Amino acid sequence: MDALGSIIGTRLPSPTNFINMSSRCMAIRLASQDNLSHCSVTYRRHILAKASPPSKVVLQKAGSKYQGLGCRCSASETVSCMTNDDTSQKSTQRKRLAVFVSGGGSNFKAIHEATKQGLVHGDITVLVTDKPGCGGAEYARDNQIPVVIFPGSKSSPDGVSAAELVATLRKFEVDFLLLAGYLKLIPIELVQAFRRSILNIHPSLLPAFGGKGFYGLKVHEAVIGSGARYSGPTVHFVDEQYDTGRILAQRVVPVLTDDTAEQLAARVLSQEHQVYVEVVTALCEDRIVWRDDGVPLIRSRDNSDKLY
Ligand code: GRF
Repeated sequence: MDALGSIIGTRLPSPTNFINMSSRCMAIRLASQDNLSHCSVTYRRHILAKASPPSKVVLQKAGSKYQGLGCRCSASETVSCMTNDDTSQKSTQRKRLAVFVSGGGSNFKAIHEATKQGLVHGDITVLVTDKPGCGGAEYARDNQIPVVIFPGSKSSPDGVSAAELVATLRKFEVDFLLLAGYLKLIPIELVQAFRRSILNIHPSLLPAFGGKGFYGLKVHEAVIGSGARYSGPTVHFVDEQYDTGRILAQRVVPVLTDDTAEQLAARVLSQEHQVYVEVVTALCEDRIVWRDDGVPLIRSRDNSDKLY
């Protein structure tokens, strides 16, 4: 935490008090309590942004550009100024992730590793599977991650219903759901309960080679058989159907003339691990923004003006 962070909770003793800060902060928040009439963020006495409680102000200016940032308040109240990673109470917290798998779970493992290494500002708090004996579920148990079975079946009578799953995920205080090779359709109850909070990874460049029946090697066989020269993973938000939600990120890999489905799958999978970790990193740092037409974009961490 830099200089800005250190003034959290500073009590401003009088109206229009001004605090000078020299900081390399990227963003700050004004959060006021009680009946403060308004707050503003200033730079060399120019007002950059104002907040009327209980709203917040977030500035996304990078680097040391704002040496001399200040907070000005129109009444004597407590004001908090925080650094970019503290832009709201929620964003200071590590995000809580649920991962859904039906198979080996290599994407799950890649994301789990990234959380352990501190690359992702979040933790996998629960694993959901329809196949309690799959590799992903075993890995979860080995790593003390609770496993929830959904949906139940004759062979898995311990499985929960859709409504119970929503309640369970709420109990775990899950922020985001990450589908990583989960083969069942996500029920509407879940989609509605976690709007804009469910991601999936698919091993082709959607909207091509997606939808019901396009999973596993079938996807890569279809890509090769079509003559497409490029393929690659797509990360997208999840709606009520298979593979139709808005696209958030893609990676391109070549389809070679003598590729087998297995070879192409391996090439795509290695990109999946990278792109999914990158996307989840952005997600956990609140760097997803929604364009007016409903397309999600990622805000660059290094340059907050850059969206991709
Ligand atoms: C991946 O190819 C993913 O794109 C698809 O299912 C596969 C899961 O692989 N949705 P893994 O279980 O993560 O290894």
